[in-house]
Amino acid sequence: MRVSKKTWLGQPDSYARLRRIESLDIDANFREIAALFYQDFQSVMLPASFSNFMMTFAAPRISRILGSTGELEHRAAKRVVDMSLLTSAVLEHGLGAELGRDAARRVNHMHRQYDIHEDDFLVVGSDAVVIGIALAENYGWRAVTDKEREAVRRFHSQLGQAFGSHRPLPGTLKEVRQFWSDYMDRELQFEPQNRRLARAVLNYYITMFPKGLRTIFRVVLMADVDPRIARACGMPVANMPTRWIATRVMKLLGRQDPVPDGGKDGLAELAKTVYPNGWEVNELGTHIQAKVVRSPEPAGA
Ligand code: HEM
Repeated sequence: MRVSKKTWLGQPDSYARLRRIESLDIDANFREIAALFYQDFQSVMLPASFSNFMMTFAAPRISRILGSTGELEHRAAKRVVDMSLLTSAVLEHGLGAELGRDAARRVNHMHRQYDIHEDDFLVVGSDAVVIGIALAENYGWRAVTDKEREAVRRFHSQLGQAFGSHRPLPGTLKEVRQFWSDYMDRELQFEPQNRRLARAVLNYYITMFPKGLRTIFRVVLMADVDPRIARACGMPVANMPTRWIATRVMKLLGRQDPVPDGGKDGLAELAKTVYPNGWEVNELGTHIQAKVVRSPEPAGA
């Protein structure tokens, strides 16, 4: 019987992605470096997208818009899946490829229906950078390199601009972290729609886990959310014991990395739950032809 050997980028070397990253040029290949980074740390990345949603709900200028569309409360599965597919189309294929460009055009069209503040665009991108890197650093199977950190910053800067932001992210990781933290102190505030959105999306995220593990993952997902964000969402802030448990669970997940070639593809599995027969970029996202919506007043509880 032939025993199939595990490979990474076709080689029997679990550090092959890192070696490829080291061989790439940051200016020419930051997107590819970021994509390899996310592949190498994929098992610990789920809380990054969750935390990113929570951050947008904690900032009333954003949550008023997201609350007004009702999409996340009523079609959370489609919204989360579409978000992941459109973002990963740009990450995997780049803006030089048709699929990446179509995805950017689709998201831009959605964003143009709303009056989105520049700082809000920047903070969503900054959050993805800050949290994604922190998860890899805290729970990852190997050390994160400076080249990876810079590639992730540059990728999210490009992504934000491709999706409608008029400004790049701050020019260094230190400045991105500062911008993010200042925004947290300045803009976060509880409003009733924050909690409605947070509960709806948390209830959806835990369905990604087997029934018996949902209670524990409710805690694990919230434990990595910044306390300022949790409070502004009207959600409980994780205490020390729950944070301890969450850290152990995340470290266990981190041991599944680096996932070898042909290993579990979490995004493809998730996409099948919404699109069992496959999908096309034009089907993704919302197709609302609204006149530009000004950030509305807070919605009722
Ligand atoms: C760099 C920052 C941002 C990125 C990468 C991003 C990404 C995306 C993506 C991929 C989608 C399509 C997913 C879907 O169909 O649900 C989307 C939709 C949407 N985004 Fe953004 N976004 C950003 C910032 C913002 C901000 C700051 C706001 C609001 C203030 C916003 C409001 C919306 C709305 C209203 C939709 C349509 C779906 C819905 O109604 O929930 N986005 N965004």
